[in-house]
Amino acid sequence: MLDALTQQPADALLALIKLYDADSRADKVDLGVGVFRTESGATPVFAAVKAAEAQLLEAQDSKAYLGPEGDMGFVHALMPYIFGADPAKGGRIDGMQAPGGTGALRLAFALVKRAGSNRIIMGDPTWPNHTQILSDLGMEAVSYKHARSDGTADMDALRAAIGAASAGDVILLHGCCHNPTGIDYTAQDWDEIAALLADRKILPIIDLAYQGLGQGMDEDAAGLRKVVDAVPEALICYSCDKNFGLYRDRVGALYVLSRDAERTTAILSNGHNLARTNWSQPPDHGAAAVRLVLRDETLTRQWLDELADMRARMRLMREQLAAADNRVGGMDLAPLASQNGLFSILTLSKEQILTLRQDHGIYMAGSGRINVAGLTSANMEKFVSALAAVAG
Ligand code: LMR
Repeated sequence: MLDALTQQPADALLALIKLYDADSRADKVDLGVGVFRTESGATPVFAAVKAAEAQLLEAQDSKAYLGPEGDMGFVHALMPYIFGADPAKGGRIDGMQAPGGTGALRLAFALVKRAGSNRIIMGDPTWPNHTQILSDLGMEAVSYKHARSDGTADMDALRAAIGAASAGDVILLHGCCHNPTGIDYTAQDWDEIAALLADRKILPIIDLAYQGLGQGMDEDAAGLRKVVDAVPEALICYSCDKNFGLYRDRVGALYVLSRDAERTTAILSNGHNLARTNWSQPPDHGAAAVRLVLRDETLTRQWLDELADMRARMRLMREQLAAADNRVGGMDLAPLASQNGLFSILTLSKEQILTLRQDHGIYMAGSGRINVAGLTSANMEKFVSALAAVAG
């Protein structure tokens, strides 16, 4: 019977990790999967997280079950960072822990399906796993063009998509550090988006997987806060994988905004129920470490400083790449300086991407997405020269 299950291709993005590892060239460059890297190419554990883990080791006296909602101390400790002052809005907002941002997205999409909607409007391109999760749930993606060729968000396309939607439709928005383009909405765009969603009665799902990697913790949540202030209902999918460097520990949360505390509790009970049938309860360790960081002023300060250093390094790499604009033929690198987060898209053909990998040992996603944190002052020149060679 199981012969019916045929060989599936590996996830294209995650497969890059293994391809890169198998490459024996000493000067290879990994611009693939989205992990932060230091100037020496490492992805270290945050010092604040290490300190919290040491406290956990010392003080944790049980690993007994917590329930499908996970560590609610963690869920609540994050809320002021995401929603700002008055984070619970009188009980209208509450959440539950999820296994990474992916777990939160899976829950959000499944909740929408359970509530009766089978399609989600989303910009194209988007993180490939968005559409994979949707298709696994038997749901449809309705896409609109996310960005213009000048490196700004295509608000006309978004307006048209919202205009064509019906009340009760759902839209997925990237809160900041758009994956894969790095092209975020401006403050003015967010004002308009918030008003449009409220007016057209569209339910937003906001994917906030990179808070703090763009302009700052508050700055990166500013758009989300405008939407949350304008609409009666929203779902927010949060990840601590990047901003706490907890990737493989799978630390995320789903937040629900509804018209009142009673509704929010009822909606979340559906989330608990879905969690129980999927993973029963989320992994505890990383979330417990985040809770400890956020409950200790010194560790919080240390974490925010580490995050600021990451941000500054990515900004520097972006500026250096943009400054090489005149060396890479028709490829437009200048807009990269004003884009946000780990990712940007380079206009490269499949053949050029393959040549970069085979001839130069430079690994990037098949879409032309690069992780700017994979660049360092040591490999920048090699990368720019290779771009010039393939583009010329
Ligand atoms: C990425 O887009 O590279 C990250 O979000 C990692 C992942 O799970 O795909």
